[in-house]
Amino acid sequence: MSTAIVTGSARGIGRAICEKLAKDGVENIVVCDVKAEWCEETVEAVKALGANAIAMEINVADGASIEAGVDAIIKQFGAIDICVNNAGITRDGLLMRMTEEDWDSVLDINLKGAFLMTKAVSRNMLRARKGSIINIASVVGLMGNAGQCNYSASKGGLVALTKSAARELGARGVRVNAVAPGFIKSKMTDVLTDDVKNRMLSVIPMGKFGEVEDVANAVAFLASDAAAYITGQVISVNGGMLMP
Ligand code: NAI
Repeated sequence: MSTAIVTGSARGIGRAICEKLAKDGVENIVVCDVKAEWCEETVEAVKALGANAIAMEINVADGASIEAGVDAIIKQFGAIDICVNNAGITRDGLLMRMTEEDWDSVLDINLKGAFLMTKAVSRNMLRARKGSIINIASVVGLMGNAGQCNYSASKGGLVALTKSAARELGARGVRVNAVAPGFIKSKMTDVLTDDVKNRMLSVIPMGKFGEVEDVANAVAFLASDAAAYITGQVISVNGGMLMP
């Protein structure tokens, strides 16, 4: 029996991750987002693939919401084997115009949320001496991006959190890795102007944007036993946009 939780999985990359994990045979998938009702489409899609899915309201910026959610999952399924910290937002703007609120909201959700969730699930994983935690970072956390000081700092922080947690938890069988997507077609990137999209496209050697499934495939690999000796790593899924 294996159980996965994917934060921010009502849509986009999170939904694709839930579907891929279900296809790969994960039995229980906890679909969570800011509102439980937003999760219904993902829950139905996962069920159609033959896995058990439940919707759960978890706001990752709220520690109490995370604790309550993780407790409920442990009560219902006995364990959490896979945790994907996928929830994320952008509040773009140039540094000189970026407000403190823009900074705090992005850091609270993208970085503090992953810290709180990692802390909550690792308690159970350490006891079980197994588990895989995967953080969804970003290419801009590795290279920076004008207009995204808050977002790139949150994603760069997530990479550092990944490596530190991997060092702390590795001896007890818990692996922590990150996936750093480049430009992926989703509601998050739909809002960008054609000018920005064309500039991005011009620096992608593969000459196209990624699909949500491209990210989900990398996550599913890191979640699986095929990645049993991989921890503290960042897998880039970016069409060659950055080659560190
Ligand atoms: P999306 O905007 O379609 O999905 C994000 C999900 O997170 C939404 O369902 C949203 O409701 C949820 N969410 C927001 N705040 C939350 C909170 N406080 N608690 C729980 N859930 C919350 O975006 P997309 O593209 O699917 O992004 C998923 C992840 O991938 C994000 O972490 C994003 O930063 C990252 N990413 C996306 C890239 C892209 O090109 N689309 C590139 C690199 C990284």
